[in-house]
Amino acid sequence: MNLEKLNRYLEIKDKIGGWITPGAAELFAWVDQIQRREGISGNLFEIGVHHGKTSILLAYMADSVKERLGVCDVFDRVEKNVTNSGRGDREIFLDHFMTYVGNPSFLKIFGKSSSELLLDELGTGYRFFHIDGGHSEEEVFGDLCLADSALLERGIIAIDDYFNEIWPGVSEGVCRFMIERPGKLVPVAIGFNKILFSKPSQQKWYVEQLLATGWRTFFRAFDPDTKLRELFGVETLVYIVPWRASLWKRISSRFKLLIGGFETS
Ligand SMILES: C[S@@+](CC[C@H](N)C(=O)[O-])C[C@H]1O[C@@H](n2cnc3c(N)ncnc32)[C@H](O)[C@@H]1O
Repeated sequence: MNLEKLNRYLEIKDKIGGWITPGAAELFAWVDQIQRREGISGNLFEIGVHHGKTSILLAYMADSVKERLGVCDVFDRVEKNVTNSGRGDREIFLDHFMTYVGNPSFLKIFGKSSSELLLDELGTGYRFFHIDGGHSEEEVFGDLCLADSALLERGIIAIDDYFNEIWPGVSEGVCRFMIERPGKLVPVAIGFNKILFSKPSQQKWYVEQLLATGWRTFFRAFDPDTKLRELFGVETLVYIVPWRASLWKRISSRFKLLIGGFETS
């Protein structure tokens, strides 16, 4: 995804309900740019759609002629949303998709629990897989097993909320995967409430590429610092948002809410 497309997404993103920070959108766009530059082509997938905030970013990342975007959500089968993480809505999602993407010919929707998804119906060869569905240990472990089986050797898995203390099941599910499936995946980068994983053979390459010339042009929202920190035995890239920038963002968004409150009252 080039910068022009990323900017277009950042402009419309706040019109869609859901959760992705500008920094995370920039990180996904940068990974997409790296994969395209290297000729890594494949499908994209998201578990946990809600209203499509991230699915639409993935749609912008996909080459709609050659690649497919798959999304899975329980939608109105709310009894399957056991952790009450978000509330998927197929109509709202499709409405956003038509408004901000258009032609849905490359989109495939799986309206069910990810625990019912079969590798056979997904196929393999995914270059980008985002996990943000059920947030229990069991669900995250299952989603990660599926993503790992569907992933290209050179693909990336992104997981939401791994370091978010509100959702401890996410880190528990990932840690279970690392213990029970050793050597399958390793962390590449941490930042903006996401953690990225790759196959071990690609980890060093991705870290180098993420730090290659030009990376800062993709990260305009917070101008992060970077560090390398060991996690699960490998040097993992960590994006650090200067506290002043993040504090200022928080104050200004509270201020906007307050002004909005005055305007509507
Ligand atoms: C945190 S929200 C997803 C946010 C979304 N990725 C975004 O960009 O805003 C979690 C979503 O996962 C869905 N969900 C919950 N449990 C699920 C499961 N077991 N399988 C598939 N989807 C699930 C919920 O309906 C909800 O829409």
